[in-house]
Amino acid sequence: MNHGRLHGTVALVTGGGKGIGRETARQLGQLGARLFICGRDQKALAATTDAFRAEGLTADYVACDVRNAADCARLVDTVRERAGRLDILVNNAGMSMRGSLEDTAPEVMAAMAEINFLGAAYVTARALPLLKTAKGSVVFISSLTALRGLPQVGPYGASKKALIGLAESLRAEVGGQGVHVGVVHVGFTENDPDKVVYGQDGSLVPLDSRRNAHTQAQAASHIVKNVLSRKRESTLTGLGKLAAFFYRYFPGLADWLIVRFVSGSRQFAAKPR
Ligand SMILES: NC(=O)c1ccc[n+]([C@@H]2O[C@H](COP(=O)([O-])OP(=O)(O)OC[C@H]3O[C@@H](n4cnc5c(N)ncnc54)[C@H](OP(=O)(O)O)[C@@H]3O)[C@@H](O)[C@H]2O)c1
Repeated sequence: MNHGRLHGTVALVTGGGKGIGRETARQLGQLGARLFICGRDQKALAATTDAFRAEGLTADYVACDVRNAADCARLVDTVRERAGRLDILVNNAGMSMRGSLEDTAPEVMAAMAEINFLGAAYVTARALPLLKTAKGSVVFISSLTALRGLPQVGPYGASKKALIGLAESLRAEVGGQGVHVGVVHVGFTENDPDKVVYGQDGSLVPLDSRRNAHTQAQAASHIVKNVLSRKRESTLTGLGKLAAFFYRYFPGLADWLIVRFVSGSRQFAAKPR
């Protein structure tokens, strides 16, 4: 029995079968939370759940496509039926893209809004009664591109920026009832080797190799810290903090630096299969 700081609590991490979500769930579990993870890929969910259980964590998975509101309702209802409560919700499920706005297919734009924004809104709305009872925590996983739009990821960044607005409204609605609402702007983080993003035509493409500032475990530890310290907003990586400073105090210079150094960067390129 794990009697860590989160002993007796229940945590749901969307997209917890892979990547940063998997590491966030693992760390919450190591602190004693009973875990629920969800995603579309049942094989990955089962493998991650098995790995968690082998590590002594208490974990379950629910297959769910967050684009589907009925799926999201069933997800939260399953947590309630099996665990009777929900203390921590991490809205991590997300997909990125590469492509200029001019060349991006409408279905990719729709996917960004549906997965990254609506998915988080659907799950959170259904989870609120449980989170209010628990005086719990809901965290939205955003990106540095939400702080300032970057080239080749416009609809992705916009969907993440929308999460900031959603979180602000939610904080005004339920902050007074003891619910913590956090936003974490994740910086460049290592990826699972098989991670894919949407290409501009809607095909799924692997990411070009990148230099990353954080491991998945490091990003996860900041997300967990946001939950434990009930912070409003966390901006990750040294580059992210520096960029936020420039965006705030030197916006014109920031725009120039983005065009000069970010446009054409390999970080924002996708290689074809
Ligand atoms: N890695 C980075 O550098 C970085 C930077 C900034 C922000 N972020 C954000 O951090 C979060 C995690 O990113 P990651 O790098 O760990 O990505 P990842 O490895 O591709 O993981 C994404 C997770 O989201 C789930 N997901 C995607 N579409 C879904 C859908 N329609 N319904 C349910 N689950 C869905 C995936 O599960 P299934 O495949 O099973 O559906 C997967 O578990 C995302 O929100 C991302 O935008 C990442």
